[in-house]
Amino acid sequence: MTEKNNVFIMDHPLIQHKIALLRDKNTGSKEFRELISEVAMLMCYEATRDLPLKEIEVETPLEIAKANILYGRKLAFIPILRAGIGMIDGAVKLVPAAKIGHIGLYRDPGTLKPVEYFCKLPGDIEEREVIVLDPMLATGGSATDAINMIKKRRPKSIKFMCIISAPEGIKFLSESHPDVKIYCGVEDKKLNDHGYILPGLGDAGDRIFGTK
Ligand code: PRP
Ligand code: URA
Repeated sequence: MTEKNNVFIMDHPLIQHKIALLRDKNTGSKEFRELISEVAMLMCYEATRDLPLKEIEVETPLEIAKANILYGRKLAFIPILRAGIGMIDGAVKLVPAAKIGHIGLYRDPGTLKPVEYFCKLPGDIEEREVIVLDPMLATGGSATDAINMIKKRRPKSIKFMCIISAPEGIKFLSESHPDVKIYCGVEDKKLNDHGYILPGLGDAGDRIFGTK
């Protein structure tokens, strides 16, 4: 994983391999969903590297051992609907105790601005570290608005995790929320005139849910 100015780009070979399969237009919905979940799990492993540990003693069948367990921080995953839902399963496999909130946003195809339609966050979010999930960071409008909504509820910290990002989205999100660490599977070339990421993978929501 490489880091520059709070933006982390994945270099793990398994993540890169699975992203190549996600990009392929011949990958069908079933495999696409499985891959999104697998990449989310691998990325979650990287994005939780800074979780603190506490030393404890456990009794093995042979003797007492010193061991480390997670300590103190509680997590919440917040997928941005719809496509973010595809990442939840993989993330929760790694952190089963995490709570899950939901934010519903869709991009108006004309203005490319996000439109809010749902928000349900954990009641104790102020005690939690939040990881926002969305496979695509394009203009950055959806991620920025979702984080604006979450910040009103004052969680302990916020990270944003996406699979494919555009430079335009990274710039907009970093400038809007400089305190938020951004984890990207890959940084792509640019956006096209309709706000789609090039080369990208197409419309993530449609490919996950088989709509269109
Ligand atoms: C997609 C994607 C992001 C957003 C990214 O969602 O999942 O939420 O676009 O674009 P942005 O960075 O320019 O805001 P979409 O609005 O297509 O909704 P969907 O997930 O319901 O398909
Ligand atoms: N949303 C997507 O699903 N794909 C893109 O390329 C851009 C926004």
